[in-house]
Amino acid sequence: ILEDASVVADWAARFVLQRITQFAPGPGRHFVLGLPTGGTPLGMYRRLIDFHKEGRLSFKYVTTFNMDEYVGLPRDHPESYHYYMWNEFFKHVDIEPGNAHVLDGNAPDLVAECRRFEDLIAAAGGVHLFIGGIGPDGHIAFNEPGSSLVSRTRVKTLAYDTLEANKRFFGNDISKVPRQALTVGVGTVMDAKEVMILITGVHKSLALAKAVEEGVNHMWTVSAFQQHAQALFVCDEDATLEL
Ligand code: GLP
Repeated sequence: ILEDASVVADWAARFVLQRITQFAPGPGRHFVLGLPTGGTPLGMYRRLIDFHKEGRLSFKYVTTFNMDEYVGLPRDHPESYHYYMWNEFFKHVDIEPGNAHVLDGNAPDLVAECRRFEDLIAAAGGVHLFIGGIGPDGHIAFNEPGSSLVSRTRVKTLAYDTLEANKRFFGNDISKVPRQALTVGVGTVMDAKEVMILITGVHKSLALAKAVEEGVNHMWTVSAFQQHAQALFVCDEDATLEL
């Protein structure tokens, strides 16, 4: 538990720096990172870009997998997660474009696209560190309430609460929010060696309480990480209101 969102961002970025540095990536030895989008991780991305500019961190031998993507938004739509990742992070660091994997929400065969993504993660040797955020309804990636806790990457229809929470990015017009997304499964994230979840703001406080103080429950999918060997929740004080 840290003071506020900016301290969370700084702490999370330093954690990533430390993990990548400790691993000492190099040719044929990539650090594999799972990445989220949303407002919460933006501060962390900015700090990571700073570390890169200061010469303290290279992404040359880092492979990334993003958690999710909307179905049917053009890649260059400012709210697509593809656009977000390139704009907010990838274009500012030295990652090889071919190593930055974001699900393609416009693939002609979405099921095949999800399978391809899982195969790519497996071919990379699995994820070393998966970073996530959560929705106010306790979803991790787009694993909406009721998702199987052993789910894999798949197409998911978004819950009304998620459309409500995300309409702020679509001119506050809920009808503009895509109804479906591709998302890694809870099982996909559970397979990572280490998981770090960032939670800030009072609007996430019920979800945080459900995540860590009640039983594992598929209606609050982030609660699955109680059973992960190395999962870490990094929160600000506001998010702890219900603890
Ligand atoms: C979306 C994403 C999640 C993200 C959540 C929270 O629903 N699919 O991966 O964690 O938003 O976003 P924010 O950080 O903007 O609250």
